[in-house]
Amino acid sequence: MNKSFLILLFSIATSTTGLAQFSQKDRDSINKLSYEDHQLMMQKLGIESLRPGPSGNPNDPNAANADESKASPYDSLPDPLTFKDGSKVTSAEDWKKRRAEIKEDFDREIYGRVPENVPEVTWIVVNETDSVIGNIPVNIKKLKGEVDNSAYPEIEVNIDLKLTTPKKPEKPVPVMMEFGWNWPANFKRPETEGTPWQEQLLEKGWGYAILIPTSYQADNGAGLRQGIIGLVNKGEPRKVDDWGTLRAWAWGASRSLDYFEANPDVDAKKVGIEGLSRYGKAAIVAMAYEPRFAIGFIGSSGAGGTKILRREYGEQVENLASSGEYHWFAPNFIKYAGPLTPNDLPVDAHELIAMAAPRPVFISSGDPDVEGKWIDAKGMFLGGLHAGPVYELLGKKGLGTSTYPEGHEAITEGEIAFRKHKGGHTVIPNWPYFIEYAEKYLE
Ligand code: GCU
Repeated sequence: MNKSFLILLFSIATSTTGLAQFSQKDRDSINKLSYEDHQLMMQKLGIESLRPGPSGNPNDPNAANADESKASPYDSLPDPLTFKDGSKVTSAEDWKKRRAEIKEDFDREIYGRVPENVPEVTWIVVNETDSVIGNIPVNIKKLKGEVDNSAYPEIEVNIDLKLTTPKKPEKPVPVMMEFGWNWPANFKRPETEGTPWQEQLLEKGWGYAILIPTSYQADNGAGLRQGIIGLVNKGEPRKVDDWGTLRAWAWGASRSLDYFEANPDVDAKKVGIEGLSRYGKAAIVAMAYEPRFAIGFIGSSGAGGTKILRREYGEQVENLASSGEYHWFAPNFIKYAGPLTPNDLPVDAHELIAMAAPRPVFISSGDPDVEGKWIDAKGMFLGGLHAGPVYELLGKKGLGTSTYPEGHEAITEGEIAFRKHKGGHTVIPNWPYFIEYAEKYLE
C-alpha cells in the first residue's frame, strides 16, 4: 500500500494525528473527556442521537462513498449571489452586504463566533540566530505570543511561531506562513524529494514562518476548556455558537500577522497562509475571515475546508460532527448530523472560498488513487468552481474552467487555482506550482 495513504489511514485510525503524540493512557483520557463534552453539547442542542459517519477505510462494509455517480444527492447549492430575501447581488457594494449574511451563517452554524473580548497578545523574541539555508544567509526568530490572562490566570496561553527571512533584506519580503504539525519524536514524516519548500521560497527572496496551532488550542474536544477558547470562557464549556478550534487556529494566524506588521523585514501586505488537511481547513478559514492575508495555499482540506459539504463522497458532515472532530466547529454544527442534514446547511464551502474574494486561493489535492478518496479532490474543485461567480462580480477570474482535470495539469489562470498533484496526503509536490502562481501577486 502507498505510504502517504497509510499515513492518512493512520491519522483516521487515531482520529487525530494530534493524538498520535500522546501515550495510550492520555489518549483514552482525551477521548473520554471529548466524548463527555460532545455529549454535553448534544444536550444543550436537545439532540439525543446522531447519524454515524461512514468509515475512512475503503475495505469496511460502511466505507465512505467513492462512486462519483452517487456523489451529488443535492439539486442545487446555496447561491452566494442571492440575498436571503431573494433579491440579486449585482454590484461590489451589494457583495459587501451579502458577504456579511454569509459570514453570519458560517459564524453561527459552522465555525463559531470569535468572542469580542479575546485578550491582547504581546510578541516576544525568544531567540534569534543567523544561519545559512541552501546557500542563502538567513535570520531565524523563535517567537512567543503571550496572551494576557489577567482576567483568568488559571489558564496560560502562548503562541509558538518561528520566522525565517533572508538576512538583512534590501526591502521587506513576502512571507508564506504554514500551520505546522508538531510531529511526535519518532514519527516518520512524509519524504521530500528535491529542494525543500522553505529553500524554494528563500531562493525567490521570500521568507517563511511556521505557526504551531496546537500551542494555543489543542486538537481535541478535551482541550476546549483550555487554550485560547478556554481562557476566554474562563474554563467553562462553550455556548452553542462559540468558536471552534479552526477559528481559534485562524485567530492565532491573525495575531502572527500583527507581529509581521511590526517587523520591518516583512512586507505584511504580502503574507500568505498555507496548511494541509485539518490545517488546510484552518488555512481557508483564515483566508476567508482575515482580509489581510494576501494569498492562500490550501492543501487537501477536504470536508470542513474547500470541499462541498453536500457531496456524498469521502468524509461526511457526520464524521466532522462526531466526538473526534466536532471541536473544529461551533457546537451548532453537530445539528447537521441529526436531526438536520447537510442539505439544511444555510451555506456551503464555495461560499467560504468566496469570502476570500477577490484574493487568490490555490486549492491543492493529492491524486485520489494515491491519497485515497476520503479527501474528495473533486469536491474541493467544485468548491472553487462555485466560488467563481463572486470573483467575477468583483472583476476577477475564478477557475476559468468547469471541467475537472483528469490529469495533473495546473489550473492557474484565475484568482482561484487548482492542482491535483501525483502524490498523496501532502502539499509538497505543489509548492513549485504554487510559487509560480503566487509570483503574480507577491512580487
Ligand atoms: C482525518 C480527518 C480529516 C482531516 C485529516 C487530517 O482524516 O477525517 O478531516 O483533514 O484527518 O487532518 O489529516
